[in-house]
Amino acid sequence: MKPETPHPSRFARHLLPQGEKGWSRRALLGSTLALAACDRFASAEPTPLSVPPLKSLAPCPFGTAIKAMQIDDPDWATLARANISQLTPEWEMKMEYILADGLDRPRFDRSDRIAAFAEANGMALHGHTLIWYAQGEEAFSGLDGAEFDRAFDGYIAALAGRYRGRARSWDVVNEPILDDGSGLRDCHWSRRYGHDGYILRAFERARLADPNAVLFLNEYNQESVPAKGAQFLKLVERLLKAGCPLQGLGLQSHLWIDIKEGAIAAFMRQVAQFGLPIHVSELDCTLRSDNKLDFRSQADRITRQTARVSELAEAFMTLPETQRFAFTVWGLRDTDSFYRQGGMDDGRDKPLPFDSFSRPNPMAAALAAAFQT
Ligand code: G3I
Repeated sequence: MKPETPHPSRFARHLLPQGEKGWSRRALLGSTLALAACDRFASAEPTPLSVPPLKSLAPCPFGTAIKAMQIDDPDWATLARANISQLTPEWEMKMEYILADGLDRPRFDRSDRIAAFAEANGMALHGHTLIWYAQGEEAFSGLDGAEFDRAFDGYIAALAGRYRGRARSWDVVNEPILDDGSGLRDCHWSRRYGHDGYILRAFERARLADPNAVLFLNEYNQESVPAKGAQFLKLVERLLKAGCPLQGLGLQSHLWIDIKEGAIAAFMRQVAQFGLPIHVSELDCTLRSDNKLDFRSQADRITRQTARVSELAEAFMTLPETQRFAFTVWGLRDTDSFYRQGGMDDGRDKPLPFDSFSRPNPMAAALAAAFQT
């Protein structure tokens, strides 16, 4: 079953002048919004913006999703080397790729290539993802109980073990909560081990496979669907009480422009109370909405987008240093976005920090300003 996509939108590039002493936060933010208005006067081609390398401003590793084929794209590689200090495989470290030829013929060629690129470029590697409701059902179908257990444990041992000492961290379990927050998803894993059971088993097996990697639970829409956020907090509390080796909390942060002001910061405060490292793990912010009668201008959408992205990054900055694990965008350039897959976008959506020519979008300037708070 294809995972639900959080939300669709569109975006436009904007450019800012450098300040005398580099890029002051006020200059970055102020100009971001001022240039957002340029969109209304399409003839005004703003002057080029140059935001400092985001990895130099972030208070922790600054990451991006990566597809192996992007390593062969010189523009992508140049942009990544300049801005990125951590990588998350977008899809080739998942069962859909690794088990495409079956359980007995796992494919690690592309995850190996991504790991090698990370090491060659001094970037950390965040493994994504070991167990996900959305994948693996076909490969595991037809297995009886003991075979299923051997395959479940064996898969985690093989994959997390393969990158032992090379992966900084793992999304051990991805998206266990129902979109409406009413409970945990039923899936092939929960049918065998129970809703909490498969999560506990996955973490315990991951701990055995790599005792030093930081082990994360990763989820989306905790900030924008209150019931889902509440369910996430309850799940974390239950897992910790059960002795689960859960060591980090992933807030995917697939944002959109109409999230209620303050909701993102409020959830960050709530989730921080566990004292665990937090990973903003998949940030993008689409400008489109589901409302077919949404005639707002690009400039208006950009203003709202930079406000939500700033709220997230500023809330992240209020965390104690020990809890600022990493800050990852789900792609670098608008054309790298998963929103461009499967026709979800009319070609104008701009959900990522850089435009299709690798030029900083207002989102990049907003992140840079927030990281300097
Ligand atoms: O590149 C191949 C192409 O060669 C092949 O012809 C085609 C047909 O199968 O597949 C292409 O690969 C696709 C891949 O994205 C690269 O575009 C896979 O089918 C497709 O399943 C994969 O989708 C990924 C999706 O997760 C499922 O794994 C998206 O890129 C990725 O952005 C998305 O990421 C998820 C996170 O893991 C969890 N949070 C939500 C997020 C967005 O849905």
